[in-house]
Amino acid sequence: MQINNVCVIGGSGLVGRHIVHLLAAQGRRVRVPTRNRERAKELIVLPTVDVVQADVHNDEELKHMLEGMDAAINLVGILHEERSGDFRRAHVELPLRIARMCASLGVKRMVHMSALNADPDGPSSYLRSKGEAEAALRQTAQELALSIFRPSVIFGREDKFLNLFAKLLKYFPVLFLASPQARFQPVSVEDVAHAFVLSLDRLETFGKSYDVCGPRVYTLRELVEYVAQITGRRRRIIGLSDSLSYLQAWAMEFLPVKLMTRDNYYSMKVDSVCSCGFPEIFGFKPTALEAVVPLYLTGGTPRGRYRWFRFKAGR
Ligand SMILES: NC(=O)c1ccc[n+]([C@@H]2O[C@H](COP(=O)([O-])OP(=O)(O)OC[C@H]3O[C@@H](n4cnc5c(N)ncnc54)[C@H](OP(=O)(O)O)[C@@H]3O)[C@@H](O)[C@H]2O)c1
Repeated sequence: MQINNVCVIGGSGLVGRHIVHLLAAQGRRVRVPTRNRERAKELIVLPTVDVVQADVHNDEELKHMLEGMDAAINLVGILHEERSGDFRRAHVELPLRIARMCASLGVKRMVHMSALNADPDGPSSYLRSKGEAEAALRQTAQELALSIFRPSVIFGREDKFLNLFAKLLKYFPVLFLASPQARFQPVSVEDVAHAFVLSLDRLETFGKSYDVCGPRVYTLRELVEYVAQITGRRRRIIGLSDSLSYLQAWAMEFLPVKLMTRDNYYSMKVDSVCSCGFPEIFGFKPTALEAVVPLYLTGGTPRGRYRWFRFKAGR
């Protein structure tokens, strides 16, 4: 299958930007629909990338985005609902509409982003909606060569996970941490993007799902302590009991900015860890968190910036 034209839906986000850069570097033509072109401005300058303001929930606009494409990559995802039904709309209805539209337009390849522990019977609406989408896509998308990725939490320069803790540690002398014993196996955004792009034209990945994790398992407390250590913040981190974690998540739902919800608390009820290593088919080993995170979390200091430039230059 020759794949020259790729529509990356959700291409303006953390993972999407990395995928689009890799595809453009290979000389493929990429179309990125976004609700806000400003948000994707770093992609606009790439020569083979077309960033288009579009509403992918509208059939006509979605059709327009997928016409002439050889493959669709779907990365649309949300962590919190603004209104009830948002998870279903973004995680279930949209991927199914993309798959059906691909089938009707003769787009033969789709790569879909799910999440580790996605399960129609999972503990949170987030995981259930991701799980329902996987099940429905496998049924609906039989004419499509479909691959699904299921990562643990993703780290990288603009992640919303470790960066959030770095910010909280900067402003609060004491951090009350919900679900401190929740376990994660964080994976680098560059590794996830690399695997996506490698999978695009590899026949062996068609019809397969891949759990993707980094090399090490950490508790949430260990991750937050690590962020405090490398950013040089001496802070008290107080782990909350299960019932206080729930209460904190509930109270945080009333904040104007959503940092955590009860749904996130429920997601952390299952360990976000892989039962086997990084998929061998991609031919590389996952990057250690310790090799990358200090480069961007300490990036504000002259020494941190220097380390980051050396890293990007491969020195
Ligand atoms: N980051 C993680 O730790 C992690 C872990 C496991 C799985 N995942 C999954 O990986 C995918 C990408 O994650 P990410 O961290 O790159 O996400 P992100 O940075 O938040 O980007 C999300 C993308 O989805 C689009 N989007 C969001 N809501 C939308 C909506 N209602 N309608 C249409 N488009 C919408 C956004 O596009 P515009 O705003 O430009 O329209 C944006 O490009 C998601 O499916 C996520 O669930 C992420």
